[in-house]
Amino acid sequence: MKRRRLGLSTRAIHGAADARPDWTPIAPPVYQSSTFTNPVGSTQEVLYTRYGNNPNQLSIAKRLALLEGAEAAIFVASGMGAVALTHLAVLRPGDHLLSSEWIYGGVHRLFTQEFGRLGIDVSFVNPLQTRSWKRAMRKTTRAIFLETPTNPLMRVLDLEPIAALCKAEGLALIVDSTFATPVNFRPLEHGADIVIHSATKYLNGHSDVIAGAVAGSEALMEEVRKLMWVWGQALDPMAAWLIERGMKTLAVRMERHNNTGLAVAEWCSKQPAVAAVHYPGLPTHPDHETAKRVLGGFGGMLGVELKGGERGTERFLRALRIAAHAPSLGGVETLVSEPRLTSHAGLTPEQRARAGIPDGFLRFSLGLEDADDLIADFAQALAQL
Ligand SMILES: Cc1ncc(COP(=O)(O)O)c(C=O)c1O
Repeated sequence: MKRRRLGLSTRAIHGAADARPDWTPIAPPVYQSSTFTNPVGSTQEVLYTRYGNNPNQLSIAKRLALLEGAEAAIFVASGMGAVALTHLAVLRPGDHLLSSEWIYGGVHRLFTQEFGRLGIDVSFVNPLQTRSWKRAMRKTTRAIFLETPTNPLMRVLDLEPIAALCKAEGLALIVDSTFATPVNFRPLEHGADIVIHSATKYLNGHSDVIAGAVAGSEALMEEVRKLMWVWGQALDPMAAWLIERGMKTLAVRMERHNNTGLAVAEWCSKQPAVAAVHYPGLPTHPDHETAKRVLGGFGGMLGVELKGGERGTERFLRALRIAAHAPSLGGVETLVSEPRLTSHAGLTPEQRARAGIPDGFLRFSLGLEDADDLIADFAQALAQL
């Protein structure tokens, strides 16, 4: 009998939901062991935690593959590790990478400061126009890398024309989908070859682990796996165990993040002290139509421009009682950060303003608190401006 395809919540909780032998623990044990006994004379692959084949590592890899609709997945020691290994797997010296210009600052530094000495050239493109990708292509271009939704303007890209270009030109399409998670967007269903996550964020969801993940075809994941071995990027078993616990609630957390995101965005857009709100669920957002078409939910990330500039944001941040002033995102606690001091600190104020991130810009990662309490916290902090 053909098995019913399980829903996202069930896959997040049970993985493939295979039959359980009697006396199986409902919560998996932590295999906090570097190595495992090995049958004498066996030529089978040995189990060694640096190889990524510890049961805790394998369990979350299988679960993510099921959620993304991928043949295989791998978790590694950080989101940066996931981005680095993926590109090392796909690119060779002499190759050219086309990257969106709207990417996480750490990845921008990896591309501009490290890839050059490996003989890999990177150029940056405005990701909204398929024409710009085409124009920037060279004979040596091997891959396109982008993030969607983008940070901190929450632009939502339509992957399909970019995927069609990649297919026509034989390029790999690599998508960092950290902000969306497989609950809100599954890039492989839109033509991407590889999806990357900073699992530090929503996949784990509790701000207590640093991890990264990659998903795609078995052949590509085998290349990433080999690099993980030799570059020493494996994830610690305890971190893998925590991620498994976090992933069980991914679908329900994302539903709450989506609802709170929309409620707070709508409230912010009515406040006189707010100059602009960047949230794809608002009809005023430039990508609202695309977002409605491609996303399962608009997410819990929000960009807000306060009218008071730098001094206004400082006053606002000092007054917050529930939301914490901290970088990172995707956890149960609401965090607020200032791109001018974090992801976009490398730009001048003029460059930031040109990129649509003027002083006074705040990025909210809305957590799982009651939306009314968050709104009350923001209201009392805005009253301080
Ligand atoms: C979109 C995105 N990708 C990758 C990373 C890097 O992840 P990590 O901090 O887990 O190395 C981050 C971190 O903030 C991120 O926001």
